[in-house]
Amino acid sequence: MANFEPVLSRNFSVPEGHTLKVYESRGGYQAARKALASDPDAVITTVKDSELRGRGGAGFPTGLKWTFLPKDRKETLMCINADESEPATFNNRLLMEKDPHQLIEGILISCFATRAATAYLYIRFEYIDAAAILERAIAEARAAGHLGKNIYGSGFDLEIYVHRGAGAYICGEETGLIESLEGKRGWPRIKPPFPAIEGAFRKPTVVNNVETLCCVPHIIERGAGWFKSIGTPKSYGPKLYCVSGAVNKQVCVELPLGVTTRALIEEHAGGVWKGRKAKAAVPGGISMGLLSADELDVPLDFESLRLPGCLGLGTAAVTVIDDQTSIVDYLYNCCRFFAHESCGQCTPCREGTSWFYKTIKRMKAGGGRLQDLDVMLHMANNLGIIPGTTICGLADGAAWPVKNAITKYRAEFEDYIKTHQNSAALPTALQERIAEGVRGDVDTIVLPVLPAAGVRHSPGKAADAL
Ligand SMILES: Cc1cc2nc3c(=O)[nH]c(=O)nc-3n(C[C@H](O)[C@H](O)[C@H](O)COP(=O)(O)O)c2cc1C
Ligand code: SF4
Repeated sequence: MANFEPVLSRNFSVPEGHTLKVYESRGGYQAARKALASDPDAVITTVKDSELRGRGGAGFPTGLKWTFLPKDRKETLMCINADESEPATFNNRLLMEKDPHQLIEGILISCFATRAATAYLYIRFEYIDAAAILERAIAEARAAGHLGKNIYGSGFDLEIYVHRGAGAYICGEETGLIESLEGKRGWPRIKPPFPAIEGAFRKPTVVNNVETLCCVPHIIERGAGWFKSIGTPKSYGPKLYCVSGAVNKQVCVELPLGVTTRALIEEHAGGVWKGRKAKAAVPGGISMGLLSADELDVPLDFESLRLPGCLGLGTAAVTVIDDQTSIVDYLYNCCRFFAHESCGQCTPCREGTSWFYKTIKRMKAGGGRLQDLDVMLHMANNLGIIPGTTICGLADGAAWPVKNAITKYRAEFEDYIKTHQNSAALPTALQERIAEGVRGDVDTIVLPVLPAAGVRHSPGKAADAL
């Protein structure tokens, strides 16, 4: 790693690095000039050859995605995914606040390659500063001829519009984003058709993450071979890793793909805080699951994380959990988040995420049963795109923390359940029967006491307590 030269974050600590003047003085927009002097297909070929994989979570090859656009299309739209709602992820924010022109240059080259004359930058609502910085940078770039009509005399036109989201995690899913951009509720669409065929306003649309597009100018400037010389097999290039949680220093650091969690903690985040040890770590946003203390040397890349049973690299946002933190608390927070963020369209996700949450809430209140762990695992194995029961990957993201936490820390869950029993929180006999689907003899069932005379018993109440 000694020879590694950061490129994505090279302007982060440069005074006024967010201004056009400073960006241009450091070689900015030269890659765009080079690209626009060539041919769109040649740009796509270079990006394909670099094997750049999307940094938004799924790791799909970027150049390949661009080739899915119909050859006979009349118009193309570009959506830049700056929703960045995955907990503990903040690399897109830094890219937009510290070096907005790098992103604009990446958008310009990518729009030229895909022949998109309109780009919508969909930014998370809470990123107030980043939105303002981008608006200013776009105005600067337009005034200097990097945007607008006939850019650099190439005949190519481009306008970028900043669109602020309304604060929902699901609007980061690409078709939820498109629906939201169209002014509708951010409900993911059933695919196919994929956005490349029918996306925003029913037109062929490319959706790419902020960091993905920031890689593009460097690939054009330095070549696909340079990009492929960094990282691990099938996971090439530099990556911005975020580290937070139980560490001495919360950081966002640029490193080659494939660094380990242990190296991030020890070499970049100042070690685990308060002199404690790492008990576990979230590898790439909470949707990706959990690494145990024994798995901290697994390379954080697109391929290796499947071995310890994680969903993938995700956003490469690492959250460290120390040895005095309860895994039950960790899972409680994950389940609460996903139950809140599920858009509700698919029954397995809507019901499953809320049952995860209700179950672990009951466990924390002292009403946990050992069989809850198997019920939760059963639900987790039947929820999501991977088993094929939902429209989008939010459900997989909800299932993975459950699967990894219960499988890797089962003894801790069992111990917690046994030592935190509170009979008032346990399900009633009626609730047990409902949960198990056993048809009860009505005469033997003790019904819950009604709250007050004249108040009707709500049938939802028994289920709520589960
Ligand atoms: C629930 C959910 C939330 C997502 N949130 C984001 C997000 O905030 N930012 C992002 O770039 N991708 C997010 N994605 C992934 C996008 O759907 C899509 O794969 C990505 O924007 C494509 O860009 P890329 O190929 O450059 O990675 C999310 C996916 C899901 C299922
Ligand atoms: S999986 Fe969940 S978040 Fe995704 S569309 Fe279905 S209900 Fe909505």
